[in-house]
Amino acid sequence: MNTSELQNIKQRYSIVGNCDALNHALNVALQVAPTDLSVLIVGESGVGKEIFPRVIHDNSPRRREKYFAINCGSIPEGTIDSELFGHEKGSFTGAVGESEGYFGVANKGTIFLDEVGELPLATQARLLRVLETGEYIRVGGQKVLKTDVRIVAATNVNMRKAISEGRFREDLFYRLNTIPISIPPLRDRGEDIVLLFRLFAMQMAEKYRLPKITLQEDAKRLLLKYKWPGNVRQLKNITEQMSILSKQREIDTETILQFIPQDMESRQLATINSVGAHSYENERELLYKILYELRGNVSDLRREMNGLRKQLDEARTLSDATAIQVRQLDTGRNFPTLQADSELHRSTIQDAVAEEINEPESLNLSDLGRQMVEKALERNGGNRKKAAQELGISDRTLYRRIKQFGLD
Ligand SMILES: Nc1ncnc2c1ncn2[C@@H]1O[C@H](COP(=O)(O)OP(=O)(O)O)[C@@H](O)[C@H]1O
Ligand SMILES: [Mg+2]
Repeated sequence: MNTSELQNIKQRYSIVGNCDALNHALNVALQVAPTDLSVLIVGESGVGKEIFPRVIHDNSPRRREKYFAINCGSIPEGTIDSELFGHEKGSFTGAVGESEGYFGVANKGTIFLDEVGELPLATQARLLRVLETGEYIRVGGQKVLKTDVRIVAATNVNMRKAISEGRFREDLFYRLNTIPISIPPLRDRGEDIVLLFRLFAMQMAEKYRLPKITLQEDAKRLLLKYKWPGNVRQLKNITEQMSILSKQREIDTETILQFIPQDMESRQLATINSVGAHSYENERELLYKILYELRGNVSDLRREMNGLRKQLDEARTLSDATAIQVRQLDTGRNFPTLQADSELHRSTIQDAVAEEINEPESLNLSDLGRQMVEKALERNGGNRKKAAQELGISDRTLYRRIKQFGLD
């Protein structure tokens, strides 16, 4: 595969990076694509495994046939066999009709089995059979069916360990692993880290319609030194968070340190941090998104408020005019009611406007930072050390934040 062909593929799939290991992985994928060989994509979580099966399918003679990506870890054990291999009518409670299953539907196409290490042993046996003979039987069925499916699988678990612990069949592993493709961890990709940062910074600037963030030199060095336990996915998340939260658009070391787990020396610690912070990461992400929505809502409110103001002015003019008219008619009976109604109308609008004027100018980013710190402290019963750990910042940074937000 020459360089320009490789470049084409990268462009087509928005794959960024130029390190040898990534280029090699792509080369192997393209070489093996035209065959029917099973491919096993191996790599840590977040390295970008999911694009490879697609590249393989699109560059194979099966490209016009079906492609299914199935996450083996997310289908309950009780239904995975029927999802993959189909079932006969009435084969289990709830099996109202019959179903073909992915292996039936994908005939002549490709199936991507993501997180294949999570397959239950019974399913592994069925899978081995279909890989070896192209034959399978539906759940509750008897007839042997034929299918012609190309399998690309991916895993981030140590398969040798899974085999030695009896969780994965060795024969199936060898069958799947005909062609192994190993995707390098981000920490081994050198300058690609900076290229990926630029890609994500650009994407986030577009997504959130904010000015693009860039990296100061020392910040760049820091990203290159960091261990990236969550790989490309982590870099993408952090770039998204900084894009939204950092007031300063030229990112310095200090800012980055607020977003990544602190320990730069020991990778183990970085990994522990990231695992421990996992659910919090999600929560933080959610919070950003909510904040983003809120900011939108505030602008909407402001627009609405202007509309209400106009209405209020109109109502005022109208009610004055009505009062005058009524007074002129002077029925003496209608006047007080009309007056009361229009007063009511006016004061309701006034209240609404008053409430909206009290909305904060804009929910700025430090509000969010404050909320995050407050929540973390709350969750950890005021323990600053634990709160700092959870936030992935140093005790010192947390201390500074607490002062800055006047939380002490
Ligand atoms: N080389 C790359 N260029 C651009 N984006 C990438 C690259 N590698 C991974 N990504 C992005 O990183 C995220 C994680 O990738 P994914 O394939 O889901 O990882 P994995 O399946 O290995 O855990 C995705 O959003 C993906 O688009
Ligand atoms: Mg994945």
